Amino acid sequence: MNFKILFNVVPALFLAGCAGNGGGSKDLAPYQNETLSLEERVEDALSRMTLEEKVAVLHAQSKFSSAGVPRLGIPELWCTDGPHGIRPEVLWDDWDQAGWTNDSCTAFPALTCLAATWNPEMSALYGKSIGEEARYREKDVLLGPGVNIYRTPLNGRNFEYMGEDPYLASRMVVPYVQEVQKNGVAACVKHFALNNQETNRQSVNVVVDDRALYEIYLPAFKAAVQEGGAWSVMGSYNKYKGEHCCHNQYLLNGILKRDWGFDGVVISDWGGAHDTKQAVENGLDLEFGSWTNGLDWGASNAYDNYYLAHPYLELLKKGEADEKTLDDKVRRVLRLIFRTAMNTRKPFGSLNSPEHLAAARRIAGEGMVLLKNEGGVLPLDPAATKRLLVVGENAVKMMTVGGGSSSLKVRHECLPLEGIRTAAEAAGCEVAFERGYVGDLRTEFDGVNSGQDLSETRSEEQLIADAVAAAKEADAVIFVGGLNKSRHQDSEGSDREQYGLPYAQDRVIEALSAANPRLAVVLVSGNAVAMPWLDRVPAVLEAWFSGSETGNALADVLFGKVNPSGKLPFTFPVRLEDNGAHAMGEFPGGDSVRYNESIFVGYRWHDAKAIRPLFAFGHGLSYTTFEVENVKADRMSLSAKGTLRVTADVTNTGDRAGAEVVQLYVGDEESTLPRPVKELKGFEKVMLEPGETRTVAFEITPEALSYYDDTKGEWTAEPGAFTAFVGVASDDIRGSVNFTLE
Ligand code: GLC
Repeated sequence: MNFKILFNVVPALFLAGCAGNGGGSKDLAPYQNETLSLEERVEDALSRMTLEEKVAVLHAQSKFSSAGVPRLGIPELWCTDGPHGIRPEVLWDDWDQAGWTNDSCTAFPALTCLAATWNPEMSALYGKSIGEEARYREKDVLLGPGVNIYRTPLNGRNFEYMGEDPYLASRMVVPYVQEVQKNGVAACVKHFALNNQETNRQSVNVVVDDRALYEIYLPAFKAAVQEGGAWSVMGSYNKYKGEHCCHNQYLLNGILKRDWGFDGVVISDWGGAHDTKQAVENGLDLEFGSWTNGLDWGASNAYDNYYLAHPYLELLKKGEADEKTLDDKVRRVLRLIFRTAMNTRKPFGSLNSPEHLAAARRIAGEGMVLLKNEGGVLPLDPAATKRLLVVGENAVKMMTVGGGSSSLKVRHECLPLEGIRTAAEAAGCEVAFERGYVGDLRTEFDGVNSGQDLSETRSEEQLIADAVAAAKEADAVIFVGGLNKSRHQDSEGSDREQYGLPYAQDRVIEALSAANPRLAVVLVSGNAVAMPWLDRVPAVLEAWFSGSETGNALADVLFGKVNPSGKLPFTFPVRLEDNGAHAMGEFPGGDSVRYNESIFVGYRWHDAKAIRPLFAFGHGLSYTTFEVENVKADRMSLSAKGTLRVTADVTNTGDRAGAEVVQLYVGDEESTLPRPVKELKGFEKVMLEPGETRTVAFEITPEALSYYDDTKGEWTAEPGAFTAFVGVASDDIRGSVNFTLE
């Protein structure tokens, strides 16, 4: 007898016996029985829980975990940041690193890069990949994605979000949520709502009219909940209507739970809860990160003093809080636990796999935006380039470390210089590097240290002189600059203090453009910036913060292995004053901030004021060319219940394959209330071989024509004349058709 077989057979028989007839579910209590409906299981678990156990599941027990019901074998919930990758483990009760050695992850591109792909398939790939990493790391709730609208180019956290347009953000957030959750990991869409700046983020009261709230700032959250099926939503730090959004009657009980039918859990941002009664009555379900009063700030036994802990239990015992409200919260948390931690059908996930690196590289390559390309500078042919010079700190500075809660610990971050050098030298092209400027030498965040030594002794003048001297000797020059993840750059907790590039980069770029006309500027950033040197630079590429595979993806695009197809998810104004929030709104405000620009955010403002942008929303070039023509509609009028079909032919008129994003905007020619000139209502990315033509089709329904009438408190589509615009950027319309809504 082969003992190996014996050892395998006996235990299996034993286990089968223990579980009764073949492990059937008849021995399980209803709440443990996954053949029953979710609601049946929830009701059964609820009926078994004591008052203390009910309160215990409504708040954190550690930095990133909340209690289950140990007595009933209901597991605890583990949360993890962030939207771009799985945060390294921190201590039980501290932000500092736990020092694990098995928690490095894949850093996927920032969500601005994902949005810039304008490709929901990339969003699905992203959600699947990051969901697998969260699952493998045994996390139940992924604290992302973020979909706060890009109101101002100075918001420090724009890099974590999906741009200025509610329709683009809505289309791109849904697949991400769906695919994450297929791993048995909850997405936690954040930060609900109106968290559009970092200045005074814990207290600023946002004053915004209902039209902008419903038409601009809420749609992506609504899509994530109603189409994406998000199992959790994170309340934001700021206030709205004077109440903190983590316990906000209007947003949470009114819109999210009553109007949208959200059956999941509202999780506070960390430290976003401030009052027990408000937390109980205004829709908070799960409290994390509170700073308790009465005890040392954040002391480890502070969890019992959380607003939804003992103080809540006391109210319940005194009959000053009703069990009905309590049970609703507990039902929501139980649903979340059954969907995640107690879900036995979850896949097993994977971590740092070649597939995830390939996904990161593919999404990055598809999200990079070719802003300008004259004189055929790009793509560079390394085989025909003897000597290539790379200049700039962002070519050698790790960007996966820092920036706040989205900071990560990766096994390896392929930096721009490394990726460029690997690809170029393989083709016989020699690559030199010059620092060009000194930005921020810090390499540590939250205890994660990139280990880089970016120290520099040369003066600003010397650095420029050295870069210029090297540029004169090079066949081509690639400047890699932009922003970084430091305070007052692209980072959580602070906003930018200037619209222009920091660290005197403009001087370096000017000097390089004078030294060598074959210059490409690559921006590693998550926000728009001023470009006073643009007329003197033939090629500009927005490369975003692109994660673990940044360098390889950048080389793919620069050398033409990947034909860029990204489109801007937000406008680059020439000057800050050309942006609505800065021209008419308040920013950053004081105790309150008024969104006076209302619905006129981004291109909506530029269109309304006829202000030419530096680069428009939806703009992005290719190494080939496209023609969009024959824009037509299948009818001239749309009935109240009908659909109008707009088609257009897109042709690749160049000599290499590429993808174009055909965009549909709709304008209401006559409306009772002011409306934007046009608004994005459809897009499709089509990959075309040279010479190939494809017809794209868009369906317009009355819903797409409606606006939120805040005089009536409802959406309305007014009969009258409309125009459908079809183009390849918000400022590059290739055809239009007029039609009427009956
Ligand atoms: C932070 C962020 C939030 C993050 C949470 C946990 O303050 O606002 O996005 O998920 O706290 O780190």
